[in-house]
Amino acid sequence: MALLPIIHYGNPILRMQAAEIEQIDDDVKQLANDMIETMVTSDGIGLAAPQVAESIALIVVDLSLIFENQMPMAFINPKILETDGAEVSAEEGCLSVPDIREEVFRPDKVRISYKTIDGESVEAWAEGLLARVLQHEIDHLRGVFFVDRIKTLRKKLISKQLKNIAKEEKARQKTPA
Ligand code: NI
Repeated sequence: MALLPIIHYGNPILRMQAAEIEQIDDDVKQLANDMIETMVTSDGIGLAAPQVAESIALIVVDLSLIFENQMPMAFINPKILETDGAEVSAEEGCLSVPDIREEVFRPDKVRISYKTIDGESVEAWAEGLLARVLQHEIDHLRGVFFVDRIKTLRKKLISKQLKNIAKEEKARQKTPA
């Protein structure tokens, strides 16, 4: 297990379309475990592989915050098949967009397909907080941030903060770790 550095808004990897995973090999399993450890340590409830600079279709979600006695789980090649119900608003944040929290409207129910870490294909409905986290993380796989989905006026208000995050991220990339 290892903690992975999380890249921030402004890093071009976070705007890329993540590649489908064709084979769930030991590298993918190791990455999923490391991402879970990184997410839990960072007090996140979801994390997408592009956030740790791996542009592949893998997300992890901490289900223990939603269902009692559930462990964090990895979703391979997750896709939203359909949505249902009204769009509801709730505050979101992101480990790649530090110190910003904004209200985002999203459908309350989604049907998703994914593969488990053991390669089993699953289709399931999710709702409430789980549906929200899944939509937020699946957005990361196609280069979309929650701040892309907020009202124009709010986006204007945080534009300076976003520019500063991007500036710091650029400086970080130039400094060898
Ligand atoms: Ni995020």
